[in-house]
Amino acid sequence: MLKEVTNSIYFDYYGEYLFTIEAVIEKIVERIREIDQRRAESGKRRLCDNIRYRIKSPESMKAKLEKRGLATDVQSAVQNVCDAAGVRIICPYMDDVYTMAGEIAACSDIEICEVKDYIKKPKDNGYRSYHMIVETSVLYKGETVYVKAEIQIRTMVMNSWASCEHQMKYKKDKTNRESTALLKRCADEMLNIDYSMMKIRDMMNNAEDTCKKAEFAL
Ligand code: GTP
Ligand code: MG
Repeated sequence: MLKEVTNSIYFDYYGEYLFTIEAVIEKIVERIREIDQRRAESGKRRLCDNIRYRIKSPESMKAKLEKRGLATDVQSAVQNVCDAAGVRIICPYMDDVYTMAGEIAACSDIEICEVKDYIKKPKDNGYRSYHMIVETSVLYKGETVYVKAEIQIRTMVMNSWASCEHQMKYKKDKTNRESTALLKRCADEMLNIDYSMMKIRDMMNNAEDTCKKAEFAL
């Protein structure tokens, strides 16, 4: 059971919806684990370094609705906001992000509603991540219910930038043009790290293949 489900603040706001939101997270996480399990069984490297998930807090849900000028009750939340259920996948390498996105899209019981590729098109502040809004069915009290969720896929490097930047958001009044520009520069430098890591991985793999071929020829 997700920790949010045992928190009365969440139940007071989401009511019965809390259980379908929990169920959709569990289903998506299960599919992601199956994807990596299948890869491991066929001798492939795992795509996930880490999987995180959360139910959006009533406080940030209300703030999001208010910002959009919408009613802040749960009916409005369920109708208008797609990320009450959120799953974040952290991958070692940048190409893993796209492999994982492709694997999720190939799941017959998950429909992709929307994709925002902030890796190809980063946000102005330098934020990089691959976002998908998905929809899938869950069973609740014997009935099939369709629930949306947001999946974010990013590298460990992108995640460390986003985590720091998220913390800094609480000190937003202290940011200035220089710190904003520096943060953006860091994001761009970190992209180079992601490229370099893939290059190093490929060099190591090629060296290993060459060794194997040499052994085979002996
Ligand atoms: P919200 O940003 O949640 O209001 O929704 P949106 O419809 O604008 O979607 P978007 O894809 O822009 O962002 C969804 C989520 O991505 C956020 O809730 C954050 O978790 C993450 N995110 C988006 N932009 C940033 C950013 O600039 N910095 C960080 N750290 N996270 C971000
Ligand atoms: Mg946003």
